[in-house]
Amino acid sequence: MSDTAPIEHPSWLTTDDFTTVDEPLRLFGAWLTEATATEPRDPTAMTLATVDSRGLPNARMVLLKGVDERGFVFYTNMDSQKGQELDAQPRAALVFYWKSSNRQVRVRGPVERVSEKEADTYFATRPKQAQIGAWASKQSSPLESRLAFEKAVALYATKYAIGEVPRPPNWSGYRIVPMSIEFWQERPFRLHDRVEFRRERPDASWNKTRLYP
Ligand SMILES: Cc1cc2nc3c(=O)[nH]c(=O)nc-3n(C[C@H](O)[C@H](O)[C@H](O)COP(=O)(O)O)c2cc1C
Repeated sequence: MSDTAPIEHPSWLTTDDFTTVDEPLRLFGAWLTEATATEPRDPTAMTLATVDSRGLPNARMVLLKGVDERGFVFYTNMDSQKGQELDAQPRAALVFYWKSSNRQVRVRGPVERVSEKEADTYFATRPKQAQIGAWASKQSSPLESRLAFEKAVALYATKYAIGEVPRPPNWSGYRIVPMSIEFWQERPFRLHDRVEFRRERPDASWNKTRLYP
């Protein structure tokens, strides 16, 4: 959450009355804050779904590293499978699932790359070993052996032993601009609560609809 200001939300905004809330990003901020307190690890973990060139869906976990009014940001190697898929088809879906509270949030929308400056700022906050790993990993390409990867890590660790590690040119962030956000909360006897927010454009106001569970 270090690259963009987190969503601010009033302290009264808790889960019990979430169906009365009209601002989905603030509600998301409140749920994320609560998940951060209750999840045993990785409250920012989310499933990222894309489609490949044949239209076949693909999904994997990534970590949310920024969320604000503009959308949901994660970082990756842009030459990876997901990077190639997003560059060809810049639309995605996200799913958060917080087991401790049995809540789900679904997000869908177009995807854009973050600015170079934003990516640089975030990259600079990563531990040096992780920065070196970003240089060493040809993410999603075949790897001949674990040793080959360790050699690449050692090579870049030597290269950048002194001073700051620059951001690799193929490593950056993507922002999912939400056009729909759905909140799901478990209730007894499977009479769950679901609320979906939709908007036509990123600058349009949100429409809220309750859905049967
Ligand atoms: C909890 C969790 C968090 C992850 N976070 C990231 C991430 O933020 N960025 C990333 O590139 N890969 C992340 N990964 C690895 C991806 O799930 C995936 O294996 C990798 O990015 C290659 O995916 P691709 O071949 O579809 O591009 C994470 C995996 C797990 C299990």
